[in-house]
Amino acid sequence: MPHNILVAVAWPYANSLIHVGNITGAYLPADIFARYQRLAGNRVIMVSGSDSHGTPVTVRADAEGTTPIQVYQKYHAGFLELFQKLGLAYDLFTSTHTQNHFKVSQSIFLALLKNGYLYTERQKQWYAPAQKRFLPDRYVEGTCYICGFANARGDQCDQCGNLLDATQLIDPRSKTDNSTPELRETEHYYLDLGKLQPAIQGFLRQKESYWRPNVLRQSLGQIQANELHGRAITRDMDWGIPVPVEGWEGKCLYVWFEAVIGYLSASIEWAQIQGAAPAWQEWWYRPEARAYYFIGKDNIPFHAVIWPGQLIGAGEWFARIFEDRPGERLTLPYDIPANEFMNLEGQKISGSRNWAIWGLDFLSRYDPDSLRYYLTVNMPESKDTDWDWGDFLSRNNNELVATWGNLANRVLSFAYKHWEGHVPEPGELRPADQQMLALVKSGFATVGDHLDAVRLRAALQEAMALASEVNKYLDTAAPWFEIKSDKAAAGKSIYTALHAIDSLKVLLAPFLPFTCERLHTYLGYTQPLFGEIVLETQRDDLGEHQVLRYLPGQASGRWQPSQLSPGGKLEQPAPLFKKLDESIVEEERRRLRGP
Ligand code: MF3
Ligand code: ZN
Repeated sequence: MPHNILVAVAWPYANSLIHVGNITGAYLPADIFARYQRLAGNRVIMVSGSDSHGTPVTVRADAEGTTPIQVYQKYHAGFLELFQKLGLAYDLFTSTHTQNHFKVSQSIFLALLKNGYLYTERQKQWYAPAQKRFLPDRYVEGTCYICGFANARGDQCDQCGNLLDATQLIDPRSKTDNSTPELRETEHYYLDLGKLQPAIQGFLRQKESYWRPNVLRQSLGQIQANELHGRAITRDMDWGIPVPVEGWEGKCLYVWFEAVIGYLSASIEWAQIQGAAPAWQEWWYRPEARAYYFIGKDNIPFHAVIWPGQLIGAGEWFARIFEDRPGERLTLPYDIPANEFMNLEGQKISGSRNWAIWGLDFLSRYDPDSLRYYLTVNMPESKDTDWDWGDFLSRNNNELVATWGNLANRVLSFAYKHWEGHVPEPGELRPADQQMLALVKSGFATVGDHLDAVRLRAALQEAMALASEVNKYLDTAAPWFEIKSDKAAAGKSIYTALHAIDSLKVLLAPFLPFTCERLHTYLGYTQPLFGEIVLETQRDDLGEHQVLRYLPGQASGRWQPSQLSPGGKLEQPAPLFKKLDESIVEEERRRLRGP
């Protein structure tokens, strides 16, 4: 029975470029997982989009002397280009600036209101007299009242990771002009997390047996250390989604409150584009559907505590308000395999100091599968990792090229040349051949188990270890010598190796989709392994917006061992990867240090 799997991927803020740390933190692991689940025959939707509202975008617009909508459109366009080039197969990558998302977010808000999980409170908030406006949390910086870090943001402290109450910051200052703000009164809606706490706690308890320890620790810690307090979910702002209540003009839903709702709204938009409007319900109203959230560790509190609270609190009223029909409970997160951070050459990646490798810039010089490979072997699954250019070079040349690329290339070239472009007829296989094929076959269970449990590094390591075994097998069988005296024996070896490579191609495809697709054609397949990633324009009352979509099409791939037929036709092969020159290491380090 196929499972319904929602692959929910963090929404990048539409205010800065994407770097390798962001990619390995959330976007790439999601894609690897989704591609595997599709190969395994499950029904996957992978959704995300640009997080286009809130202060991250208005701060940038102020800094660039432009408007929030222009900032959002510019960065959104860059995301689409990068994700397509990197082969991130989103069923839908949209944005929060769509009419559909407005409606879904407002419906969740109204459902929470109806269910009694919202209350209003007049509250003090930082007001900048010089700018004549309330300062959003992110516009205020000061000393963290929990750990004493001097440069905490109003919403969250980057040193201790805690979400903060901005009004408690010590020595506050306005981020834009360094002026000292004062506290003034304003009214806001609050999400009653205190009331939701028992339900959230119950939800987290079920996760103790399988969530990553750091994710559990952070989310349970947040709940056990202190009672959950209500959190303001509206803001005095005009760039965002209006609060759908009369008399609340000029206020918007808080960006974090509505951005996470994007997982639901993007699923709904995906279904509409498919022309099967209710299809999203198979991921959101089925208790057996599984939702996996791919995020970086800084996003854990919002996804593991607050978002489940929103979903529980909105309950069945959501369907009544959104589409006037009785609904069911909305699917809660099944797993949140949040990653740690990747550093760069020993230092924290920093966009503002330009200490970063930007995705699009990297792809202007190197191939996407090289990046995907290095970011997987070095993925910060359980601790912070480091991007090191020397390590990138050696992983590319000694593993990707030497262990896997050369294996595929020499076997295919040899078969193509000596068997006139056909798979050799092996006759009866020898014990060593059979052992080789049995070993590779076992990879479908071992690699698959790792992938199912979102242990992507271990999965890739396992698949590469099998490639090494095939190399050893070939070194022993030595068909290049066998052929001189016994072509039939060489045919058995080459048949076995082709078979193994055809299987390894499937095991490696979630990680290396571009080169595995090419290898797939060299092996004579005419239906592609995967579908296509396309850009499209959608229109609604807010205007036009570009989206990225994965069209599964006639994808032929399956998570099962090769069924390559003896005598089958092969295509003329070419090398899958490029060996990189040593000189790039210094070149890239110079580029990083700047002029
Ligand atoms: N934009 C946020 C970030 O980059 C992540 C938001 S995930 C969402 O940290 F689901 F809340 F949108
Ligand atoms: Zn702190």
